[in-house]
This record gives sequence, structure tokens and C-alpha cells, in this order.
Amino acid sequence: MKDFADRIISWQKRHGRHNLPWQKVRDPYRIWLSEIMLQQTQVVTVIPYYLRFVERFPDIKSLACASLDEVLTLWSGLGYYSRAANLHCAAQIIMNEHRGIFPRNFDSITKLPGIGRSTAAAICVFAYRQKRAILDGNVKRVLARCFGVAGYPGEKKVQEQLWRKSEALLPKRGIRAYTQGLMDLGAEVCLRRNPDCPTCPLHRCCVAYKAGRVNELPAPKPRKALPHRQTVMLILLHKGEVLLVKRPPAGVWASMWSFPEIAPEDEVHAACAGRFAARVKEPKWLPPLQHGFSHFELNIRPVLLQVDSVKQQAAEPGQLWLNLNDAQHAALPAPVRKLLQQAAAYT
Ligand code: ADE
Repeated sequence: MKDFADRIISWQKRHGRHNLPWQKVRDPYRIWLSEIMLQQTQVVTVIPYYLRFVERFPDIKSLACASLDEVLTLWSGLGYYSRAANLHCAAQIIMNEHRGIFPRNFDSITKLPGIGRSTAAAICVFAYRQKRAILDGNVKRVLARCFGVAGYPGEKKVQEQLWRKSEALLPKRGIRAYTQGLMDLGAEVCLRRNPDCPTCPLHRCCVAYKAGRVNELPAPKPRKALPHRQTVMLILLHKGEVLLVKRPPAGVWASMWSFPEIAPEDEVHAACAGRFAARVKEPKWLPPLQHGFSHFELNIRPVLLQVDSVKQQAAEPGQLWLNLNDAQHAALPAPVRKLLQQAAAYT
């Protein structure tokens, strides 16, 4: 389409977003950070996290020197915590292998953990004004609709087709406004549900719009029912303190702090005595919580337990008795934070 890019650029200038915190800088570190935070997360959610993060870690060196625990603490609540672990790891690689300078070369950028083809391209565009094509979830939707691309965009063949489109549409000039415009259009106009087609600069040439197929494109992911898992979270309270355990370095909520868990069939008193040398009073069951991960649904049954006596208050490695207020500042996944707040209300 001849004037696709022109339409996007003109629209971006008048209607796009211009005052996002990471748009004011050309520092590749900040642009990289913003792009990672913006993966699967909306701008309004990201802004306060981004501002806190750059305040505490103003450059790659400060990030590389920090502990993973501190990085996760700043990420706590944003979800998809492997993003934070990869960011921290990549900062150390940049210190060791790139003399602390964020690389300019596209292939070197994609070799860093957590940076795929589209994210690397966005960094190259915004930090270095290189002409590179992006294809995140929002852009896939815009292109699938505008060009009537059938099939689920996560499928390899469809994705390759969309990459070819995205490459072919790049403008001769104005790569930054163009790229930002595509992102803004996907985030604010060409929405998955109830897109605002009449205000879209592409509606006159949009295949899906003209054919009345906007709601059918892009095709949804063929759904397999996600497996359900059950767990019991033990909220052990003793003299104003709560017991947290550090999760293993791989898997869901990797390296974050959470409550100890037992299997639904385990008996609470026996488990507390066996694992934590703790004698507990009557369990108080809190309402169950459902948490969706990308590959399973977790059903959490939280139980509040007042500890009568505990053998050694000094916990084992990877366990921590923390004052309830201090615990709020630990690197906690969102459901754990929510339960902690509920627990605090009971004490
Ligand atoms: N989504 C992904 N990258 C973005 C950016 N740079 N600005 C706004 N939304 C985005």
C-alpha cells in the first residue's frame, strides 16, 4: 500500500502519544527498559514502575551491580518476572562484554537475554534511528486487519507473512514517528474489542473494515483448556511476623518471596510441625484465589495460622520471618501481596 506509512506518520503527529517518560530520552538503556516493561503490560501501568526503576537504577552499571532480589522488588506487581531477571542478567553481560555500553548492532542486541526481534528493532529505532521493522502483538493486529491476513498470528507461517509486510511497509523518512504511530494505533484505536474504526487513518484501505470482518481478524489462538493446579498457601503469623520462603530460581515466580505451600491433601498441623517446627492454633481459611499463568490456572487456598510456638525463630536458608510491614516491601508476586494485606487486616 503506497501511502500506509504516510498515513500513520501524519496521524501520529496529530493524535499519537508524545509525552511518555521514555520518549524524552535517547538513552538506549531507558528505551530498552521501557520496551521490556511494555511487553504484555499497558502504558498506564508501566509509567510508575518505570519512574521508580530509573530513579533507583539510573544506568546499566547500577542495575548490573544490584542484587536480583532488589531488582525483583522493584518489579513486584508488574508480573512476568523473568523479564526482570533477564534485564538484570543482560546488564551484567553489557558490563562484561560491551564495556558497559549498550550495543548499537542489531544482532548483538538480539543476543541479549529477553530481547527478541521486535524489541531489538524498537530499541534500534528509538535510540539510534535505525530503519527496522517491529511486530509486537498490537502491530500484528493492525497489519492482520488492514491487509486481511487470515490465521492465528502466533502460527509460524502467518507470523512470517506479517514480518514480510512489516518490513515492506517501512518509510523512507520518519522511522520514529512511524514506529510510535503503529504502536499508538494498536494500543488506542485498533483495539482487539470495540476498535474505533471511524477515527483510524487506515479505515478507507483496511480490508477487514471494508469487508465487515474486524471482529474476525486477527484469528484467535486455537484454545486448549489450561490445566488447573491447586495449592494451599500457609500464612504463618508469629508475634507480628510472617514467614516467607524464597522460590526456586527457575519456574513461575522464580526467585521471588512467597508463602510456604502444601498440597491440598496434606494436613495443616502436621505440615507446620514437620517443616517449620511450628505449633499452630486453629486454621482460619481465607477465600480462595484464582491466578492465571500463561500455561496453567492456579487455584490458591490461603490459610491463616497463628503460631503458638516455633522452635527456632531464626529460619532456615531461603526462609525469612519478616515484620508484616517490612514484608510488604519484599519482592512478592501480586496474589501474595494481596494475601499479605488481608492477613495484616486480621492481626
Ligand atoms: N508499547 C511498546 N513499546 C511502546 C512504546 N515505545 N510506546 C508506547 N507503547 C509501547
